Amino acid sequence: MRPRQPTLFSPESVRNFNFPFPSTRYQGSKRVLADWIWENVCDMKFDTVLDVFGGTGVVSYMFKNASKQVTYNDHLRFNWFIGRALIENHDVQLTDSDMELILQSHEVIYPDIIKTTFGSIYYTDEENAWLDRAIFNINHFLADPYKQALAFFSLCQ
Ligand SMILES: C[S@@+](CC[C@H](N)C(=O)[O-])C[C@H]1O[C@@H](n2cnc3c(N)ncnc32)[C@H](O)[C@@H]1O
Repeated sequence: MRPRQPTLFSPESVRNFNFPFPSTRYQGSKRVLADWIWENVCDMKFDTVLDVFGGTGVVSYMFKNASKQVTYNDHLRFNWFIGRALIENHDVQLTDSDMELILQSHEVIYPDIIKTTFGSIYYTDEENAWLDRAIFNINHFLADPYKQALAFFSLCQ
């Protein structure tokens, strides 16, 4: 049976493996090569896939959609969240109330790691504070590890 997918990518989007996987600026992403890779292996008989350098997860996700049993690997922690959110996860989704938990300001003292460490480098102070808050909220107000992973994946987009 085909595994259920998070609705991040709609069912119609995965037909013929021509799915609109989010575009990223991740160096070395095989997003534009996914169709080519599939065309060159689809006639082979295999059930399992080891994606050793998983990165954006696009290759793993393509094979998962083809009902292969996929093992995703990457040594970077933010990519590990991608693997958990898109590959290991089959049916957990973020709800509107989860999004509210992530986006609202709670009665806590938020860390200011990004704001103080990266001030005036990448984003504005306001945006850095927003990131500090969202990350804290994901870690402290979302109990489900798959929801946490989905939230971090979304944040990275
Ligand atoms: C070219 S990129 C990603 C390619 C991936 N197929 C995609 O489409 O996004 C290669 C990935 O390998 C990971 N990587 C590099 N050396 C690694 C190692 N020794 N162990 C695990 N992952 C590694 C990097 O973190 C990077 O995400």
